[in-house]
Amino acid sequence: MRRNPRRLAATAIAALALIAAVSARAIADGGGSSQGSSDSLRSLAAQVGLRVGTAVIPYDLDHPDYAQIAAGQFSVVTPGNEMKWQVVEPTRGTYDWSGGDRLVQFARAHGQLVRGHTLVWHNQLPDWLTQGVANGTISNAQLRNLLHKHITDEVTHFRGEIWQWDVANEFFTDSNPSGINPTDFWISHLGTGILADAFRWAHEADPHALLFYNDYNIAGEDGTNAKSDAVYAWVKQMLAQGVPINGIGDQGHLDTQYGFPTQMQQDLQRFADLGLKVAITEADVRTFVNDPTSQQPTDPLAASAQAHYYDDMLKACLAVRSCISFSVWGFGDADSWVPGTFAGEGYAGLYDVNLQPKPAYSDLQQDLELAAHGAPHRSGSGA
Ligand code: G3I
Repeated sequence: MRRNPRRLAATAIAALALIAAVSARAIADGGGSSQGSSDSLRSLAAQVGLRVGTAVIPYDLDHPDYAQIAAGQFSVVTPGNEMKWQVVEPTRGTYDWSGGDRLVQFARAHGQLVRGHTLVWHNQLPDWLTQGVANGTISNAQLRNLLHKHITDEVTHFRGEIWQWDVANEFFTDSNPSGINPTDFWISHLGTGILADAFRWAHEADPHALLFYNDYNIAGEDGTNAKSDAVYAWVKQMLAQGVPINGIGDQGHLDTQYGFPTQMQQDLQRFADLGLKVAITEADVRTFVNDPTSQQPTDPLAASAQAHYYDDMLKACLAVRSCISFSVWGFGDADSWVPGTFAGEGYAGLYDVNLQPKPAYSDLQQDLELAAHGAPHRSGSGA
């Protein structure tokens, strides 16, 4: 085939002009302007009614480069710690809502929704509570009343500001078969019925918030699907009893040393088929790295595997109409929880330690661009 040199030159000039225009826009907004440029994750996701989110910690709000990405790329935010009981009531009877209020204000200013996280969990409880239970000065009956008051006061304080509440977090065992953990702090003191009560109390305090059960490895990540099966059986039973549960959140903490959970889409879909919303709530994908500071993958293939896992996780959500949000647990590797928890691992976020977008970021962009031409539109998210 003969090529027309003049047409080739014209095409090249047009392509250069397009690249220049795109670059100028990216430089002008730093890739993360408030409300999002047209190719931001949040704007692309809005085309199919999906909210893309991130966990936010005070560090992000204190640093303009982080705050700009948090505002520009994401349409829903989750406090990393600031709504947990340990933070909101460090001293018995004295509330400190400042961290949560600050994030709610940030979200309002940037047209974002908020995922509240989390009301009932065994971790990050105030010392006065755990010590009081341990030394017998807080009885089980008092503990139940304290939990009721905690849920009522917190949900009331944030009433009207929270789109989805993670009411209960991480109650199922990692065994096969799995079930509600009998040694969990709350279950061992108050019995399994406390979960239903927690949802009822939250619903009474804010009837409009979507109430979620949130856990890790409940979309096939355990390889056996045992944990997902257990949560499925439990939530079905709760719904049959009229407990006000609206959604299931799969945290989505993945690791490239294990295979991608190919069951994910089916697992999300079967929760959805019960009439529930579903969400990916804390996505990240870790791998082995050279050191916790620079976080370079030790296996060159791991960098592309990391991107593929994000890509497949988002696709699983996009394929399920009731999957209303896809949130990451922080976006920058420098402030990720992973190196501090999993020795030798890191590189889990969408942005590297220098806050540069990684291949995973571009893959999500492409998925969302393509989704606009075929994925089911989810309604009711306001996106
Ligand atoms: O605030 C104190 C600070 O005063 C103190 O000097 C410092 C010393 O260690 O600790 C600080 O508290 C830390 C807190 O994060 C705030 O940074 C705690 O030690 C640390 O344990 C805590 O970690 C949090 C972790 O939950 C606790 O399990 C992570 O930030 C938070 O990202 C993580 O989030 C969880 C989700 O809630 C549930 N799913 C898993 C996810 C990752 O673990």
